[in-house]
Amino acid sequence: MMEDRRALVVGGAGGIGSNVCHKLASQGYRVVVADFNVEAARKVLDGLHGSGHDVTRLDVTRAESVRTALLDIEASGPASVLVVASGGPVVHLGQQTHVATFGMDDWDRTIALNLTGVFCCVQTFAQLRLAVPIEHSRIVLIGSAAGELAGNGTDIAYGTAKAALLGLTRQAAFDLAAAGITVNNVAPGPVGTPEFFRNTNEQIRSGIASLAALKRLATPEEVSAGVAYIASREAACITGATLAINGGIHMH
Ligand SMILES: NC(=O)c1ccc[n+]([C@@H]2O[C@H](COP(=O)([O-])OP(=O)(O)OC[C@H]3O[C@@H](n4cnc5c(N)ncnc54)[C@H](O)[C@@H]3O)[C@@H](O)[C@H]2O)c1
Repeated sequence: MMEDRRALVVGGAGGIGSNVCHKLASQGYRVVVADFNVEAARKVLDGLHGSGHDVTRLDVTRAESVRTALLDIEASGPASVLVVASGGPVVHLGQQTHVATFGMDDWDRTIALNLTGVFCCVQTFAQLRLAVPIEHSRIVLIGSAAGELAGNGTDIAYGTAKAALLGLTRQAAFDLAAAGITVNNVAPGPVGTPEFFRNTNEQIRSGIASLAALKRLATPEEVSAGVAYIASREAACITGATLAINGGIHMH
């Protein structure tokens, strides 16, 4: 088996994804920042510690785009770690929605981005790592507490997609266990990313924070620390699991 420390972070230009890129780069990984927004991905790349990092454009909602991007990356050296941090609600945060009136188009776009797109990334990465096995191969999906909670802060499609990721994580973990590839889900509650701050005011933020037992939002650094642990060698016996980083907004 080859050994490599290259991590592919899909959604690597985002609030959580960029933090994951920085965390993994600081731990010596060569990082590929993969995102739909390649300009923002380049900015993340420019700030990464160390060398050997790369950037690629991909659209997770198009299977062919995912496949092409992952094969290109593979050609320049295989990655041992896949983190999927793209996604988010398509319907604007704070907008009240209801199952009876939720638009079919919003449903389709949310499921494509948060579920089918994740499956495409997992499937292609699995094919590559089964063809060329690498020690300590890891898949880390970014889920959400919204996958286990209902409420005004989420919508029917987003909650459904994030709940489905729990099943995707477990079945992929089962299927890939024999190859030594672990698959886990990191499920944050509300995280104080730049995007989150742009889309909320102080009143909304404190309202959301008050739902957590710790009475605060998580930071992107706290989420990326969890991702880095799951990606580490020390986490070799953890698979099919969900790591909740949610301030106690939901306790298992
Ligand atoms: N921020 C939170 O409070 C929070 C809470 C729980 C879960 N999450 C989850 O964490 C993940 C990251 O959230 P975030 O807050 O960093 O969001 P973000 O919007 O800051 O980042 C998402 C990234 O995904 C990229 N992206 C969007 N569509 C894409 C596509 N079709 N193909 C490839 N890339 C695409 C965007 O360009 C962006 O860089 C999401 O899955 C989100 O559901 C976030």
